[in-house]
Amino acid sequence: MNLTLHVWRQPNADVPGRMMTYQANAISEDMSFLEMLDVVNEGLIANGEDPIAFDHDCREGICGMCGLVINGIAHGPERATTTCQLHMRHFHDGQELWIEPWRARAFPVIKDLVVDRGAFDRIIASGGYVSVNTGAAPEAASIPVPKVDADAAFEAAACIGCGACVAACPNASAMLFTAAKITHLGVLPQGQPERHSRVIAMVDAMEQEGFGSCTNIGECSAACPKEIPLGTIAQMNSDLLAGSLHRS
Ligand code: SF4
Ligand code: FES
Repeated sequence: MNLTLHVWRQPNADVPGRMMTYQANAISEDMSFLEMLDVVNEGLIANGEDPIAFDHDCREGICGMCGLVINGIAHGPERATTTCQLHMRHFHDGQELWIEPWRARAFPVIKDLVVDRGAFDRIIASGGYVSVNTGAAPEAASIPVPKVDADAAFEAAACIGCGACVAACPNASAMLFTAAKITHLGVLPQGQPERHSRVIAMVDAMEQEGFGSCTNIGECSAACPKEIPLGTIAQMNSDLLAGSLHRS
């Protein structure tokens, strides 16, 4: 199939960007979206032009590096699908596509379609861990974990930190990401000692990074490739209230 691409090009965060138009020809429906961009880049390089910068790593939907807004939708039109796992069979010959980076004040553009998601790293560093004593490994079955808690932790731990929730939210809120990280630790026995201090520190870090507030629109969960439920935000807010009361 042949496609017309309108791609955001921006040399760096200090220079204004603009959409530029390219042709993507002879694209197989079996290619992934990133493979289609690889083909376009090969053509640009062959012509001595600057290739389009975009993030990727695993290309298996597990690392969270990729992320493009395709025709206004974070990660494109397929639900529960990362950009790297989105295949060209979901588009049609002759289609026009608008490809943009995540747009949020807390995610400044590095180049073209690549944004700096260091804000997520700083939220994690503020409390997204459990502290354990070093020494001999504990007996694996010495801390029983109820099945319902294990399932809730697994569900929240599926977050790959891609940032689509921020890109999809009209407020550019990072509540779903932060809530997923808080929930997957907070519902396990190992996460209890720091449960209150963790939620206070991580929400504080999130607010300092310049993300917007949550107004319960739900676009974050709808765009999430791992389908993290909105209930994690309720869990985080509950923990935050408990942590605030505990502290005062
Ligand atoms: S909550 Fe979903 S959309 Fe947000 S960073 Fe995690 S995986 Fe990506
Ligand atoms: S490149 Fe790893 S999730 Fe897409």
